[in-house]
Amino acid sequence: MLGSTLFVVDENGRLVGSLGLPDIRILHDEEELAVPVEDVCNKFPSILTTEQNPYYDGRNIFLERHGITVLPIINSDGVLVDLFFRYQAFFSDAINSPCGEPKALSVMPYKHYAYSLLSCAKEALALGYDRFSAIEFGVAGGNGLAWLERYAREVERYVGVGIDTYGFDCGEGLAESNDYRDIPYIFCAGDFKMDQEKLQRRLDSSRLVIGDILETLPGFCPVSRVGVVLCDVDYYSSAIPVLEFFADDDTKFMPRVYLYFDDLPTRTVSFSPVGSEFQGESLAIKEFNAKSAQLKISPEATNVSDKLKVAIDGVHANGMKVLHRFSHPDYCKTLVSHRHHGFLNSSLFS
Ligand SMILES: C[S@@+](CC[C@H](N)C(=O)[O-])C[C@H]1O[C@@H](n2cnc3c(N)ncnc32)[C@H](O)[C@@H]1O
Repeated sequence: MLGSTLFVVDENGRLVGSLGLPDIRILHDEEELAVPVEDVCNKFPSILTTEQNPYYDGRNIFLERHGITVLPIINSDGVLVDLFFRYQAFFSDAINSPCGEPKALSVMPYKHYAYSLLSCAKEALALGYDRFSAIEFGVAGGNGLAWLERYAREVERYVGVGIDTYGFDCGEGLAESNDYRDIPYIFCAGDFKMDQEKLQRRLDSSRLVIGDILETLPGFCPVSRVGVVLCDVDYYSSAIPVLEFFADDDTKFMPRVYLYFDDLPTRTVSFSPVGSEFQGESLAIKEFNAKSAQLKISPEATNVSDKLKVAIDGVHANGMKVLHRFSHPDYCKTLVSHRHHGFLNSSLFS
């Protein structure tokens, strides 16, 4: 799942070759499937050795060869000892280069999640918080939550700030809706039903909270301050309780919470925008901002694009916002006191 690549080893654990998913898909009849894997695998995959620095040498391979998402690391006997993933190179890039786009980013899944975690970790470090919580609302099969968890481990390793990850979902998929604000002509009742057992096997440390967020969210106490919220519940009526949660006490939150909204009208389905600024998450955000002078989600505008074929990266960037909690006791604390620290001064969120 991480790299769509299988590595083939012999009985002594020595690397023999690699097999990509496309290589497996072209083997369709029984005769082809009966061929030993050794005969069909790529015998000369790109590799790293334990002598090399994966964050330097591996990163350079990823930059040159865009299709590769994972590299095997072998020791001097040719034994496969570890794997190095493209996303790991991204985090080292993001943290070690004080400014600019981490170059290994290009084909990384859920990169908006990675950005949100890094941006928040940067603030947590500057404010002296030793950990924060990141929550995905709307988990379904768990692709987003699994990546969130993986990325959280990398950010923890590099930045030294702990991250608690949560996933909220009713488990039943989308409920029936006839409310035009839920954009029911695009989102269908029953879609995204969760296989909870299967999902649990994919997760390591995340806590799953199962049930309608209308019921599970009020009174919810995260183990650390919430610093990242990824909202992917599709409906307006489901986004409302997420935003209402933000009215809880400041002690539950960081002064700025990094947000991502997946279903703004800048997204398209068959070239039609997902709703309008009068529906869905856009409307929920507008109503939220109108209600309180002290809590604001910015930027509010959905930036509806006239180019419906907007690049997927642009769409994700449009969904990234920040909740400002102006009355939070730490809101005005300076973030630039660690000037010597390149990572803190880099501009990841722009
Ligand atoms: C688009 S899917 C999430 C996809 C997931 N984030 C991913 O990246 O693979 C939307 C999910 O939101 C959940 N959902 C919608 N409204 C909800 C509510 N009121 N309470 C709990 N879960 C809800 C649905 O069950 C569905 O699984």
